Amino acid sequence: MTPLLEQVYAPGDFRRQGHALVDQLADYLEACPTLPANPLVAPEDLLSTFRSLLSNNKTKPEDLYELMLRHSLHLHAPAYMGHQVNPPAPLSALGDLLNGIINGSTAIYEMGSTGAVMERLVMEAFANMLGLSSATGGFMTNGGTLANLTALLAARAAKWPEGDAWQAGNGPFRPCVLVNEQAHYCIDRAVRIMGWGEQGIINVPSDEAYKMKTEELDGLIAEARKKGLTPLAIIGSAGTTSTGSFDDLDSIAEVAERHKLWFHVDGAHGGAQYLDPDRRDLVRGMDRADSVIVDFHKTMMTPGLTTGVFFKNGSDAYRTFHQKAEYLLSFDSGEEDWANMGRRTFECTKNMMSLRVFSLLSVYGPEVFRDYLTSVNGIAAHCAVAVRQTPELELAVLPETNIVCFRYHPKTTGLSLEEVNGLNQMIRAQIIQETDFYIVQTKLRGLVWLRCTFTNPMTSRGHVDKMLQEVKARGEAQVAFRSGMPVF
Ligand SMILES: Cc1ncc(COP(=O)(O)O)c(C=O)c1O
Repeated sequence: MTPLLEQVYAPGDFRRQGHALVDQLADYLEACPTLPANPLVAPEDLLSTFRSLLSNNKTKPEDLYELMLRHSLHLHAPAYMGHQVNPPAPLSALGDLLNGIINGSTAIYEMGSTGAVMERLVMEAFANMLGLSSATGGFMTNGGTLANLTALLAARAAKWPEGDAWQAGNGPFRPCVLVNEQAHYCIDRAVRIMGWGEQGIINVPSDEAYKMKTEELDGLIAEARKKGLTPLAIIGSAGTTSTGSFDDLDSIAEVAERHKLWFHVDGAHGGAQYLDPDRRDLVRGMDRADSVIVDFHKTMMTPGLTTGVFFKNGSDAYRTFHQKAEYLLSFDSGEEDWANMGRRTFECTKNMMSLRVFSLLSVYGPEVFRDYLTSVNGIAAHCAVAVRQTPELELAVLPETNIVCFRYHPKTTGLSLEEVNGLNQMIRAQIIQETDFYIVQTKLRGLVWLRCTFTNPMTSRGHVDKMLQEVKARGEAQVAFRSGMPVF
């Protein structure tokens, strides 16, 4: 080993660097309550800051980490109200350090034994906690996007009209799935990756609350068949990305069962809402789904990516990838081999993400997830009430969980639709540039809305009220200068 490599692997250096990093992170977490959520820096400026670290190979690790902490979005700041990613529980994040050192992989048991057993136990525990059937089986994977693709590959294997698409390709069939037009774009991607093209996805219209109009399903299935398409699956959203709207899963289950279609639930954002006693009804019917995916990094306090893919019939998880890899997987018999995960997952090398959940479950108990959800849902409910009490603000839809879409729209000023859209885009830009808050925006049926996802249980009602005041103040200032206001 060269002296340089000796230094790289020296436990003493690691001890010093590790303690310093943990101290740095603890200081950071202590500072977060008063930090602005978004330390915005132009990409070119940040690029040159980091480039300078490479031109100087004497960079100290703590300087690199300090730069990262300074310039990253602060999810643990209560002013963070942006995208759906949650601030990880420090204990869960700490496990990533352990995972990084062990670097186990759950594809084969021998390479990731501890991760494999924790993964099985996490999936069993959550199947039970989410009210899924006792025959449920599954595994964890890298994110909701990959999880949805994996579940749809299982749907294809289970519902393929004839032969085996894995071996023969799509052949003469023109398969399709039905999904809420508001669904996350990864469903569309999954369909196209499977080679089904644009016709492979039938967007079911949504109602005024952005929920799937399930009463249209029968007609759309009949129409698709008339066109020579083969519907294979219906996908329910629990909930949608923009507004967090929950489809009526029970109704979808009924239609899917009647037409013998696969029923998949994209619960990346809201599948875990079963754990909030006041919101359990939102996912009524989820237990009837053939497959369900849930992102732990959105609503269960883990770092990303950490996703569970649940199959009502655990054996379905084995259908997805038939392919053999003799050098890794010595089974060929078709027997269910839970400990060698690579047979069921898209990934080969896959880190031991189960630790992120297992640590929280074993140290704090299952109620920690309920507490988290009830907290962030409660903050969102407060935001909705405050918006409704402010005449200049308008709510897109009553929030069902922790996503709130609203906009500044004073009715008396006679602004056109384009002007209101432009005004809200401008307000959003000003909020993230001029205040501590980080919020995002979305477009629904041509209208621009400000969008908050409350993922931080440290966000208080006071923070929400302040953010709304900042929005209103900026809206008022813009309207006052209306004659000079740009129209987008
Ligand atoms: C409903 C829904 N499904 C899937 C995804 C994709 O999940 P991931 O970002 O974990 O790949 C998202 C992400 O926002 C989502 O909201």
